[in-house]
Amino acid sequence: MNPIQDLSTRDLVGKTVLEVGSGRGDTTRNLVSLLAGKPGARLIATDLSDDHFARLGAEFAGSGVQVDFLRTEAQNLIGVPDGSVDYLVCNYTLCAVEARAGSTLQALGRFHETLRTRGEIFIEEEFPIDVAANPAQKVWAEKWRLLKAATELTGGAPFHEFAPEELAELVRRVGFINIQWAADSSFLPEPHALQFFHARLERLMAAFPSPRLRDGFASSAVVLDEMASRAGGMEIPFYRLTAHKSRGTASLHATFDPHPHSEEESCSSPSPARSAVRSSTAN
Ligand SMILES: C[S@@+](CC[C@H](N)C(=O)[O-])C[C@H]1O[C@@H](n2cnc3c(N)ncnc32)[C@H](O)[C@@H]1O
Repeated sequence: MNPIQDLSTRDLVGKTVLEVGSGRGDTTRNLVSLLAGKPGARLIATDLSDDHFARLGAEFAGSGVQVDFLRTEAQNLIGVPDGSVDYLVCNYTLCAVEARAGSTLQALGRFHETLRTRGEIFIEEEFPIDVAANPAQKVWAEKWRLLKAATELTGGAPFHEFAPEELAELVRRVGFINIQWAADSSFLPEPHALQFFHARLERLMAAFPSPRLRDGFASSAVVLDEMASRAGGMEIPFYRLTAHKSRGTASLHATFDPHPHSEEESCSSPSPARSAVRSSTAN
């Protein structure tokens, strides 16, 4: 069982849940299931792109849950009034927000503003890829290395993952309290572990400026397939982070403290022990 509490343990009747970065809707689908049968509960799904809104809207039409879609950036959340959200869920999106360096702090500040006084955030993120601790995690790390390099070569901005301690510190700086995080991992077995990777790499390679580059990346992809086959699949280390809104107001200005308090988040081992729990008692 997940040692930090998740949204399913909360009373959701009459509550407003905001999802940031709904993407293809994997988390949205879970949220709709959680809210089904809870009178007055409402989900607002937001994303920078509206590519999946129509499909997801049709999928949830018979769920009995009020689901509204809003195209807006995490940093702005335009259309979400301050103090209007009970629970904010943001899974595997801050790494994309941080593709534009520094945007995460702005997004977290906005999360804080949109929450009610007793509101909470629930965030999931993959670990930075340098933590890979076993052959199946090395497949995951190498997959990201290739995709990030290919993204750079085609003029895109690659994702930037945060260590949980780093994210916990940013969350604290914008005013959240009771910050907790727990490490976990999921395993994708062969032969499907690298399906998404191959599709994405193909799209990126089509835009490469030189056929030699394509050949090089194609050979690296073959080596990665062999690694995955030896490891039996790919393991993704990730963490869940939760925090409560404090009573004070968030401030993005003049809060940088170069000497954080000793009771705050600190975890010396970068290796994500399964289900390790850390907490920060700042404030
Ligand atoms: C990996 S997907 C999210 C996956 C989804 N949360 C899930 O659990 O299945 C990342 C999403 O972040 C969105 N995104 C990227 N930058 C963003 C930004 N600055 N603001 C809002 N959404 C953003 C992308 O459009 C994409 O849909």
